[in-house]
Order: sequence, then C-alpha cells, then structure tokens
Amino acid sequence: MEKAEQDLIDKTPNQLYIGGKWRGASSGATLKVEDPSTGEVLGEVADATPEDAVAALDAAVEVQREWAHHPPRERGEILRRAFELMNERIEELALLLTLEMGKPLKESQAEVTYGSEFLRWFSEEAVRISGRYSTAPTGQGRLLTMKQPVGPCLLITPWNFPIAMGTRKIGPAIAAGCTMVMKPAQLTPFSMLALAGILEEAGLPPGVFNVVTSSSSGPIMGPLIEDRRSRKLSFTGSTEVGQKLMAQASENLLRLSMELGGNAPFLVFEDADLEAAVKGAMIAKMRNIGESCVAANRFHVHESVADDFTERLGEAMGALTVGRGTKEGVDVGPLIDDKQRSIVSDLVDDAVGRGAKAIVGGGRVEGPGYFYEPTVLAQVPEDAQCLRKEIFGPVAPVIGFAEEEEAIRWANDSEFGLVAYVYTRDFDRALRVVEGLETGMVGLNQGLVSNPAAPFGGVKHSGFGREGGAEGIEEYLANKYVAVAT
Ligand code: SIN
Repeated sequence: MEKAEQDLIDKTPNQLYIGGKWRGASSGATLKVEDPSTGEVLGEVADATPEDAVAALDAAVEVQREWAHHPPRERGEILRRAFELMNERIEELALLLTLEMGKPLKESQAEVTYGSEFLRWFSEEAVRISGRYSTAPTGQGRLLTMKQPVGPCLLITPWNFPIAMGTRKIGPAIAAGCTMVMKPAQLTPFSMLALAGILEEAGLPPGVFNVVTSSSSGPIMGPLIEDRRSRKLSFTGSTEVGQKLMAQASENLLRLSMELGGNAPFLVFEDADLEAAVKGAMIAKMRNIGESCVAANRFHVHESVADDFTERLGEAMGALTVGRGTKEGVDVGPLIDDKQRSIVSDLVDDAVGRGAKAIVGGGRVEGPGYFYEPTVLAQVPEDAQCLRKEIFGPVAPVIGFAEEEEAIRWANDSEFGLVAYVYTRDFDRALRVVEGLETGMVGLNQGLVSNPAAPFGGVKHSGFGREGGAEGIEEYLANKYVAVAT
C-alpha cells in the first residue's frame, strides 16, 4: 500500500458511531478489512457486539420524537451541506471506495457523485411532504390525511456500492424525520464511517444516525429486528438473505424495503442501432466490474445480428485493461473476494462445458487479488446456469432468438424482475416489449437506469419498495387519517 493510501486509512474513523460519539466495540474486538486487489489487510474497524447494536438503537429511539419535529427546511439543509462536503472530498472518498471495494478510481468517483445526488435530491424533498384535505362523500365531515416519519429505521447495505446504497436510504430517512441504525457490509465499512463523519460535520444531531460495523450481521441485527421499538427495515443485498430478514421482521411487523437480486436480460432486436447497443451493453455489463444487481446478466440478440453484435462486444471487452483500481488507465478491478470469483469461474466453466464458446477471456487472472478476465460467451445453450443465476462479474453470455414473442418470454423466464434493457428503433415494438416485461425498470436504448430522481426497485424476487424519485421518501413515511366532525 502506498503512503498516501495508508494515511487515508489511518485518518478514516474506524470506531462505532453511536449517539454522536465514536467508540470501540464494548468487547474491544476489531475486524480486518482487506484490499481485494492484493488480499492484504488495509486496516481494522470495531466489531460490534449485540449490546453495542442495542445501544445504537437506544440512541436512535431517544431522539426520534425530537427529530420528527425538527423543521423540514433544516433537515434539508443538513442533507445539502452533506452533499457539498461529499463533493469537496470526492477524491478521498473515491480512493477509500477503491481501496476497500476494488473498483477503478473513475468508477469510485462516479459512485460518490451518484451517492451524493441522493442527498441533494432528498434535501429538496424534505420540504415537500404533504397531506390531503377533502369533504366526505356524504358532505358531512372532513377527511384529513397527514404523513409522519415511520420511526427508527434499520438500514443494511451491501459491499458493491458502499456509499450510494447508503445515501439512498439515509437521504430519505433524514428528510422524512426518521432516526437510524446503519449496518454496512463487513467487507467495506470504511466508506460508511467516512460518510458518518461527513453527516456529523454537516450538523446532523447526535443519535439520528448511528453506525455499527460487524463481522457478522445476524447476531447484531437480529435483536434489533425483533425489538418492538424498531419500525422499519431497509435492506439491499441477495434475495436469499432478504427472505430470511423478511421472515424475521414479520414477527415484529416492520415496514420493509427490499432491494434484492437481479438477472437482467439485455434484448437486441434486428432493427437496433448496433453501435449504440454495444456501447450500452458495455455500461450495463461492466459498470462496477459487473458486480451490480442491475448488471446485464444475459444478452438475447436477434439471430440475424447475433454474430455481428457478439464480435463487436468481444472487441470492446477484449480492449479493457484489468488491474488495481488505483492505477491510471485501469478499466476493470478485482472481484470482491475469492468466493465471488469462484462463483463467476464456475458459471463460465459450466457454460463452456455445455458448449458455449469463450470468444474473449474465460479465466482467472493469476497473481495476488481476485481478478477475472472480461469474458464474452457466444452460442450459450439454454440450459447454461449463467442464464439463470446472477453472475455478479465481468461475463457476458450471448444467446440468439428468432421472434419478438420469444425474446419477451425468455426475458421473463426468471424469478427475478429488477431491470431489463431493450434496444430497438421501432417505437411500436419498444412499447410492446416494455409493457410485456416483468421488471420494475427498463433501459430503453440505454444501458444505465440508475438515477436519484427515479424510483429504483424491482418486482418478483427482486424485492419491493422504491429508492429515489418522489417515491423514495414515501418508504419512510406513514399515513395518518383524521376523521374531522363538522
Ligand atoms: C445495486 O447494484 O444494488 C444498485 C446499483 C445502482 O444503484 O445502480
């Protein structure tokens, strides 16, 4: 690790943030954080005990009432200041993201920008919370509805976008007047601790936002999910873990937002602009090294253009530079750990074993770190596992189709329903296909749907609830109806 990198790690908070105070775990335990590009230890953070987590919830509960009455304008201004601070510190935050998560610096900068925009968006939403007033249909009585913060929230975020997946929960929670306990992924805790420091500096009162880092989520979050004082759980992560959390949360009837796995189809029709389709495919596939729930997981391409598309995609993928994300000119960083790399590698081996051709890549990169080659698989057979499972890596399987109906059927043949990408220049077809897709989002002639001003979220086993857009704050508000006698 270079000196500037070590200095950055050394000055980043590494303790729990509870009730506005930084403190170690009550057991004194710490957990090690690794650089996935070298496998070396970057540093250590506090490893919270269940008692520490309860202390974080105590702090959130204690100030909930006061925070709910904090003027919306001031809540918005705190978010706005935090947005500005994030942008002033973009270089440092980006380096921290790259060090602990592995993505190339330019992508880390894009994540800081994307993440900060959630704070700006919700700083503007804080003052737009409203209700309704109407006359009862009989003419007697008035109906008044108001929106109030749901109360203390439990937030659990993943390692793939350690900052942005946090800000899109924190932003609306602050705007709505909710307090929080945040549990970031154990693989990438530093970025969230840095963000906690920024929120503190932006003037967020003690206790509103609390962070517990831990080597194991279940033992510390389980008791909070069961605690009658918690009101909501927002989780981003795998469907499998989401289902377990949901079962646990059902005992306590928590409000839930679940942003879970995906298996995004990328459809290219015969009338598509192929150059644009390949450009979009590179973003949809390779953003975040393919480690994204909105990553294009399978490419369904009309058989008349499949060879052409595959060749162009192969050229673009083959031209990418793999390496440590801090190095100039690197396009593709390491996967998060060896387990993830093995999942990717097994899926490629399975497809090749069933007859697919790796026209580019197809293997691990030797040396330290968890690198995998950008890979394009042609002529992928229908029974290949990579068409069914979330790859979460830099692998693009291509499969041909003959008819529009077949493409839609294929696209929907998944338990997931987060996002789909569609490339066509035929407007009628675009509408038909978009309406036929069982997903929460569609990228029409574009490979990126993520936008803080839009409602991000899925259907089916990709979860429920929306993050961002006008819908995002609703997840943190409860409706109260008042029957007024006249
Ligand atoms: C995710 O991968 O969980 C979300 C990615 C995004 O917001 O673009």
